[in-house]
Amino acid sequence: MSHKLGLIGYPLSHSFSPSYFAEKFAQLGINDSEYLAYSIDEIGKINKIFESGVTGLNVTIPYKELVIPFLDELSEEAEEIGAVNTIKIENGRKVGYNTDVFGFKASLLDQIGDARIERALVLGSGGASKAVKFVLGKLGIDFKIVSRKEQYLTYGKLNRETIQNHKLIINTTPLGMYPNVDNCPDLPYEGLTKHHFLYDLVYNPEKTLFLKKGESAGAGIKNGNDMLILQAEKSWEIWNEYLK
Ligand SMILES: NC(=O)c1ccc[n+]([C@@H]2O[C@H](COP(=O)([O-])OP(=O)(O)OC[C@H]3O[C@@H](n4cnc5c(N)ncnc54)[C@H](OP(=O)(O)O)[C@@H]3O)[C@@H](O)[C@H]2O)c1
Repeated sequence: MSHKLGLIGYPLSHSFSPSYFAEKFAQLGINDSEYLAYSIDEIGKINKIFESGVTGLNVTIPYKELVIPFLDELSEEAEEIGAVNTIKIENGRKVGYNTDVFGFKASLLDQIGDARIERALVLGSGGASKAVKFVLGKLGIDFKIVSRKEQYLTYGKLNRETIQNHKLIINTTPLGMYPNVDNCPDLPYEGLTKHHFLYDLVYNPEKTLFLKKGESAGAGIKNGNDMLILQAEKSWEIWNEYLK
């Protein structure tokens, strides 16, 4: 079955997915399919892409929420989170899914193994933070959002004790992402121990300053690379369901 796939977002300068799927098509010997980058400066332009006969799309910043009114149906997870990163178009119906949830959950479980984590800090309250919150809720891990916004726990209120009481810290902010590799979330890192786990959704660079600080305290560290691959693979699985 041939695929006409793509990624929508804006801007789409260094996106992972187009080259990932080009490589996948090459590996599987698929030469009748495509995965294109659609850099659209306004979400309404998605209608033209639908009209072109695409069979599936990935959605990235800033459209994961804005795309929802253009869809006919949402998976349970996408509905609950309020964000879509994968669309499947079948018989004209556009169905939205969230595979970030799958990617984050599987990679987090791989990181923490059988460690019992009771409380977590989630840094940032944007789109990716929603998928993270959803997964932590499902896993029964109590969490607090740390944010620049007053309605949450703000960075200035964190102290050594807060860090000691939260053994899992997840960065969902872009701080430390290439080229701003000298940035990191403003935390009292001195509270970290070898019993902590630091998870950074950022995958470029491989080891952000946030993760380096965790590593030097002996904490377990993980970047967003596995999540990125797992969410792409889950999208691929969704696009291939019922098509075999
Ligand atoms: N590995 C993966 O598969 C994967 C998947 C999705 C996203 N990501 C990565 O996750 C990061 C966030 O993506 P997103 O879609 O959630 O972006 P987003 O919706 O823009 O949210 C990012 C959040 O980070 C916080 N933030 C932004 N700039 C900040 C600053 N200068 N200082 C402190 N906090 C700041 C903000 O939260 P507050 O306003 O609450 O402070 C903001 O809501 C990106 O680096 C993205 O590449 C990775």
